[in-house]
Amino acid sequence: MAQAIVIHQPGGPGVLQPQTITVGKPGPNELRIRQTAIGVNFHDVYVRSGLYQTLPLPGIPGIEAVGIVEETGSQVTNFTVGDRIGYITRSYGVYTSERLLPADLAIRLPDSISDDLAATLLLKGLTAEMLVKQVHPVKPGERVLVHAAAGGVGRLLCQWASHLGATVIGTVGNAQKAELARQAGCAHTILYREENVVERVQDITNGKGVNVAYDSVGKDTFQGSLDSLAICGHLVNFGQSSGSVAPFEVSALFAKSNSLTRPSVFHYARERSMLDSMSNNLFNALEQGAIKAEPGMAFALADAAKAHEMLESRERTGALLLKP
Ligand SMILES: NC(=O)c1ccc[n+]([C@@H]2O[C@H](COP(=O)([O-])OP(=O)(O)OC[C@H]3O[C@@H](n4cnc5c(N)ncnc54)[C@H](OP(=O)(O)O)[C@@H]3O)[C@@H](O)[C@H]2O)c1
Repeated sequence: MAQAIVIHQPGGPGVLQPQTITVGKPGPNELRIRQTAIGVNFHDVYVRSGLYQTLPLPGIPGIEAVGIVEETGSQVTNFTVGDRIGYITRSYGVYTSERLLPADLAIRLPDSISDDLAATLLLKGLTAEMLVKQVHPVKPGERVLVHAAAGGVGRLLCQWASHLGATVIGTVGNAQKAELARQAGCAHTILYREENVVERVQDITNGKGVNVAYDSVGKDTFQGSLDSLAICGHLVNFGQSSGSVAPFEVSALFAKSNSLTRPSVFHYARERSMLDSMSNNLFNALEQGAIKAEPGMAFALADAAKAHEMLESRERTGALLLKP
């Protein structure tokens, strides 16, 4: 028997209900894992609230965790009992003490990365890798705008882009977050509640605009991101913390020959070789000090609702995790 958090209907944090579940035997290509740390992501909030209707209900949310292999399926050759693995998944079923997992998703973790760190780093770190290495490969000398620059993905993104030689401009909700964003490599920070983001970007870039805007906030920031772009600049909308972006007139891109992308990390990591390459890049970036990350603030699995409340409050500045 395993302890899980189950959602029966969408709603506020209170719909995250503790429940006991049965975990069966692994199928031929599956692992049974005992989970040691579970990452909490904004995606989980979208699923819980019903903004994303991608989890069939009743269902167990969550998209990343770390655990120990307890049993392997008959066809599994690359993992054995006792292996320490992490994973990201678009199929949910993560907020639980034990689970079955397709072996194809498991990532062997370097000894230098603790369970708690990996559980809060994998999804955000692979997303940052996708953004700065693949969706818009950042080049030295580029001007980069990052929204929610003190957030989980945001801080990794700022560090990595600045390590690659870009001048990073970060938008943040308050002065404390501005300090964190500067520590993460932002050369300039914009307090978007007090300052006009587009005007400040134009000032900072001497009217040139940015080569790329990484925008995870969506509804509230989309137009400002577009207006902040340089000629041939690239708007990468990779999230919607403030809500869905309104319908968009494609011809608006013509004014500055801009491009727009809406990537998902699960597409970029859809094949084993892609996942391996991205996770190697991430682990190397950590090892070489291009990015630094700390384990998140931990909550008991049964207190998942409290973790969601904190994530939505926008008060916190670090990652969050659940401990089964
Ligand atoms: N496309 C992908 O494959 C992919 C993968 C992973 C994550 N993501 C997305 O990346 C984003 C960041 O994820 P994260 O887990 O690292 O979260 P996060 O950035 O740590 O938290 C969200 C931040 O967004 C800012 N924000 C602005 N308007 C907001 C609003 N109306 N409600 C809530 N927050 C608002 C807040 O920072 P300020 O107070 O500074 O404004 C808040 O701290 C999310 O949108 C997530 O869905 C996308």
